[in-house]
Amino acid sequence: MKKFKVLLAVSLLAIGCLTALIASINEKKEEQKIINSVPQVERWQTKNEEFKKFYPRQYDSWKKTKESDDIDDMLKEYPELVVLWAGYGFAKDYNAPRGHFYAIEDNRNTLRTGAPVDGKTGPMPTACWTCKSPDVPRIMNEQGDLEYFTGKWAKYGSDIINPIGCVDCHNPKTMELQVNRKYLDDGLKAAGLTPLADATHQEMRTMVCAQCHVEYYFKKTDNGKGGKAAVVTLPWAEGTTVDDMERYYDNIDFKDWTHKISKTPMLKTQHPGYEMYLTGAHGKNNVSCADCHMPYKREGGVKYTDHNIGNPLENMENTCMTCHRVSEKSLLATIAEKKKRKTELHKKSMVQIAAAHLEAGKAWEVGATEAEMAPVLKDIRHAQWRWDYAVASHPAFFHAPEETLRVLGTALEKAGNARIKLAKILAKYGAADYVAPSIDSKEKAQEIIGLPFDKLVEDKKKFKNGLLIEWKKEAEKKGVYNPESTKGVEDKTSYN
Ligand code: HEC
Ligand code: HEC
Ligand code: HEC
Ligand code: HEC
Repeated sequence: MKKFKVLLAVSLLAIGCLTALIASINEKKEEQKIINSVPQVERWQTKNEEFKKFYPRQYDSWKKTKESDDIDDMLKEYPELVVLWAGYGFAKDYNAPRGHFYAIEDNRNTLRTGAPVDGKTGPMPTACWTCKSPDVPRIMNEQGDLEYFTGKWAKYGSDIINPIGCVDCHNPKTMELQVNRKYLDDGLKAAGLTPLADATHQEMRTMVCAQCHVEYYFKKTDNGKGGKAAVVTLPWAEGTTVDDMERYYDNIDFKDWTHKISKTPMLKTQHPGYEMYLTGAHGKNNVSCADCHMPYKREGGVKYTDHNIGNPLENMENTCMTCHRVSEKSLLATIAEKKKRKTELHKKSMVQIAAAHLEAGKAWEVGATEAEMAPVLKDIRHAQWRWDYAVASHPAFFHAPEETLRVLGTALEKAGNARIKLAKILAKYGAADYVAPSIDSKEKAQEIIGLPFDKLVEDKKKFKNGLLIEWKKEAEKKGVYNPESTKGVEDKTSYN
């Protein structure tokens, strides 16, 4: 009898455990079903928090990009940059990229975008918003691309308000990956690469990133209403390497600005991350951006995509180690070495190019002619384009190490050529002993180029305490912004 009771107790316990297990499996299955199902979110719902109730894990991991909030003032770290960008916005303020969550704030905060006082003041065009927000494809859809690309960025101060989020990479109706910025497809077709309509699922895991992490320029285009639009265009018609794009820009005589000291017609490289990646071992093997930056994650029985896009080295177990069989330690050592090699050539290039600008400035001052200077300016233009290309395509030293070193090598060569020519010109005009001033701090460099830093900061503060507050209120009234979504976010900049 006693034996029977024990047996009964054990059986009941087992049944109880099994029932709990089944319930838990069902619960997980239920959750997996929700993840795989398609709740009805509006097509142009750009408020990221509206997705939380349907996709809590993706939303919560996306929100973690908020934790990458450090401001790294690159001008302070490398004061030569101020001279390299003299006469252009980047000499005012330039920080390393941080989490996607900050894309909107950083665009409003940077001294480069100035201090608008109404919807018509600049200095930057609407195109500046293009890679910052899901509100951009929403507006392109509502108003058409040409209208979107017309005017100054302040025009959309109360419309473009939510940082990079769900609708940038997904169609909320199906949650499939989708790119809604037409210029990427135009670029792919111009380059003879696979257009989006034919992209495989694996390729789409890179394409969603390539809509923003690419080289581009603002092409002046008739907007059909008697005005000009500044249309984001990928310069890929000749191909996607640094040499191809250099040729493309030269052929159309394009310049982003004229250098304040050397008078060179300059190019500013944006961030050709995708193009560089194509030349590296991972790009060539079709390892996608998402494979490393958005690994799968398991929580209990649920498998989902980690949306905390950041540094894959902080999570090597789920990223690198799914493919590589060496130890984490040895991989990290390899990467550190790659970075060191890049940094050595990166620093040497900057010093050479900055000296070339200053020597060219001196050459103009002592009477050099346009004909004498033309070949020098061409070398400087190409040298800086190449140096910038290798470092603005963050972090190409890892994505494409050999190409990065090749590009930096040619930057050094071209800067050297410019300086040999300059030495002859300076000698001819009796300035052979000219030595360019050393550039040892951001402040000193900004002084050399005559930049009114304090005034820029003062104007920016007025903008932030005035018009910006109105923008947020209007956006809330329009129903496109939920102030809760940015509550408690620290306002970090390089200047306060
Ligand atoms: C920068 C692009 C990007 C952004 C922004 C983004 N996603 Fe994703 N999402 C992806 C990629 C890539 C995948 C993997 C898709 C695949 O391989 O099928 C994915 C997968 C998903 C899936 C499918 C299930 C899974 O976990 O794999 C859901 C649901 C999802 N995302 C929800 C969201 C939500 C909600 C947001 C906004 C809070 C968001 N995503 C923002 C790129 C993005
Ligand atoms: C809508 C445009 C857009 C899309 C889509 C996009 N990015 Fe970004 N990304 C940016 C911008 C802008 C920044 C810089 C944000 C800042 O500093 O405020 C950035 C920053 C980053 C950073 C730096 C993060 C940090 O914490 O330092 C990484 C890594 C990154 N992106 C990878 C990706 C990957 C991988 C994808 C595709 C899965 C992707 N991005 C899709 C625009 C985009
Ligand atoms: C093989 C893995 C891998 C692939 C594929 C990959 N990345 Fe990365 N990515 C990394 C690693 C590792 C880092 C961090 C390197 C470092 O700075 O130490 C990184 C860093 C970045 C950064 C941050 C730069 C910064 O300064 O904060 C961006 C942006 C980025 N990747 C974009 C992309 C894009 C876009 C793609 C696809 C075109 C891509 N990555 C493909 C591994 C990868
Ligand atoms: C989806 C698979 C996959 C993932 C994930 C992946 N790799 Fe790779 N990796 C490859 C392949 C494939 C190659 C090329 C191997 C070859 O050519 O023999 C490669 C090559 C490399 C190389 C040598 C080539 C070079 O560029 O120097 C290094 C280093 C490397 N990977 C590091 C990493 C790191 C670090 C990570 C994580 C951030 C990572 N990989 C993630 C598949 C992957």
